[in-house]
Amino acid sequence: MTQDELKKKVAEAALQYVKGLSVLGVGTGSTVNFLIDMLAEFKSQIDGAVSSSEGTTAKLKKVGIPVLDLNDTGTLEVYIDGADEVNEHFQMIKGGGGALTREKIIGAASKKFVCIADASKYVGTLGKFPLPVEVLPMARSYVAREMVKLGGQPVWREGFISDNGGQILDVHNLTILNPVEMEKEINNIPGVITVGIFAIRPADIVLLGSAEGIKTLQ
Ligand code: 5RP
Repeated sequence: MTQDELKKKVAEAALQYVKGLSVLGVGTGSTVNFLIDMLAEFKSQIDGAVSSSEGTTAKLKKVGIPVLDLNDTGTLEVYIDGADEVNEHFQMIKGGGGALTREKIIGAASKKFVCIADASKYVGTLGKFPLPVEVLPMARSYVAREMVKLGGQPVWREGFISDNGGQILDVHNLTILNPVEMEKEINNIPGVITVGIFAIRPADIVLLGSAEGIKTLQ
């Protein structure tokens, strides 16, 4: 099976968490894009979705699902999103698609965070995937120097501007042994908008797609 086939399978498995919901939170990325295509089937049941990016917003609208403002919906029952890495504690690295800030907000505002990923994303220790850090543009070089102090090698994602007007540093070579502490530490650096460690609020359920089928971790 190709990675895309696995992503499609795991997106399909996430539909069980959509049944009966009128509103849900929707993440960003290629795995979630498969889910959005399948959400079209639930159009009559769904009043709307809270979107984590402009890309997801456009896709939701295309399949006919209204996009709602988180300020109007209040706490969400379920948020479904992909990940770049996930560990056994359901802590994740996210932000490969650059939508980490809105993703973290919606995850925090949701009762149940369902992570959908192909099994290659399941890792022992977070950090092999370069850690995305969204920064205010004027702080980019300063934050990069702080990342070097932490042992990382920051690379500016040149030409990329986030939906919030931020820039992204992809920090290579970090071994994240204590994700909660590192999330707090990096978030505390002036100029950081969001770090792509999702550990303070990890996922509640992880669906992993592999050639052998879907594994549900909870
Ligand atoms: C976007 C993300 C995505 O969830 C993450 O990059 C995984 O993407 P994909 O499903 O394309 O592998 O965090 O900011």
